[in-house]
Amino acid sequence: MSLGIPIAITRPIAVVMVGLPARGKTYIARKLARYLSWTGYSASVFNVGNVRRERFGAKVPASFFDPANPDGLSSRKKAAHFAMDEMLAWFKGGGQIGIYDATNSTRERRQWVIEQCERSGVDVMFVETLCNDPAIINANIRDTKLLAPDYRGVDEATAIADFRARIAHYEAAYQPIDSENASFVKLIDVGQRVEIQNVRGYIQGRITQFVMNLHITPRTIWLTRHGESTANMAGVVGTDMPLTSRGATFAQNLASFIGEQDEGPGTIWTSTLQRTLQTAAPLRRETHALKVLDEIDAGICDGMTYPQIAEQMPGEYARRSADKLRYRYPRGESYEDVIARLDPLILELERQQDPVLVIGHNAVIRVLLGYLSDEEREAVPHLDVPLHTVLSLTPRAYGCEVSRHALSSE
Ligand code: F6P
Repeated sequence: MSLGIPIAITRPIAVVMVGLPARGKTYIARKLARYLSWTGYSASVFNVGNVRRERFGAKVPASFFDPANPDGLSSRKKAAHFAMDEMLAWFKGGGQIGIYDATNSTRERRQWVIEQCERSGVDVMFVETLCNDPAIINANIRDTKLLAPDYRGVDEATAIADFRARIAHYEAAYQPIDSENASFVKLIDVGQRVEIQNVRGYIQGRITQFVMNLHITPRTIWLTRHGESTANMAGVVGTDMPLTSRGATFAQNLASFIGEQDEGPGTIWTSTLQRTLQTAAPLRRETHALKVLDEIDAGICDGMTYPQIAEQMPGEYARRSADKLRYRYPRGESYEDVIARLDPLILELERQQDPVLVIGHNAVIRVLLGYLSDEEREAVPHLDVPLHTVLSLTPRAYGCEVSRHALSSE
């Protein structure tokens, strides 16, 4: 059976985060898990901090993290062991890429991680985040740590002071990865500089490329389908038909909507099909027409209505209804194929620091929305993406805010 992923994994991989607190480890871990799951791998994050909170309570003082505090040290070790056992059990059950999210800040701890994983036949790849820019660290503390359960109900100044004391304890014991004979990617100052050692094979290469493109600068991503086309009006799938007058009105209204934004898009992507090009025209801005954004290829069904497909090819219709994610139109594509072809675009989308507007189609917008809003792969082909509606997405530290703007087409 085809798994719908570019390459199957022969040995599971543990991606092991390394870094001081407030260096974006959890952000990277979650984004990576989401990306890999969207691509079709089974991926999951194992967060030692969460285990520590569950087992020893969220509200521990900074002194808990003092390396000279034996009780704190032993509790933290127990949390690390528990999360590791959980991850190894998950691998046994068929998990492919586990992300072990903790500071893993000493050589001794990393050696232990390697031994545990090797014993279970799991490859280890470290992702270390190093950052000494106070502005980035402060932003990280404010955006993530103050919202964490550790500081619920604590006033901001006390929480920041406590968290800084916690960081100082970790700093005292921190040993960055150096000559260890490991596989690692070191991200310095949010990927401004990157060091790579012993990264081998396709998957580790994908992981490296993905984490290199992440950043934490907030920006908006607008996703929309083209305006109504004559094919939409006729209810046929595919084709390359022009806009109707309602579709053209939407294009005008989209230009007004974008014009009203505080910060307009730095990048506009369309497909190569005329209905997206016509939708972009009133924007009067530079646009890039990308083949990867073309609508799902309906193969031999291109130009047919759904009732026609049901009547003339009932087997095809039934197979698609039973498994819309994996079903491939004869001589066309499946949703899994669309996900695979949009993979490079995700990296480009991640690396953009300015707002981006994507004018696409039903299936491709579903696929992009599914990635950005962390939807299950199975749910992607069924996401509701109506015509004449702009989705406004703002990626945040822990998730993506989505709002919908239905624009008039009359
Ligand atoms: O109907 C418009 C359209 O963009 C078609 O061209 C395309 O085949 C279809 O939507 C994709 O939606 P679904 O996967 O639900 O058939």
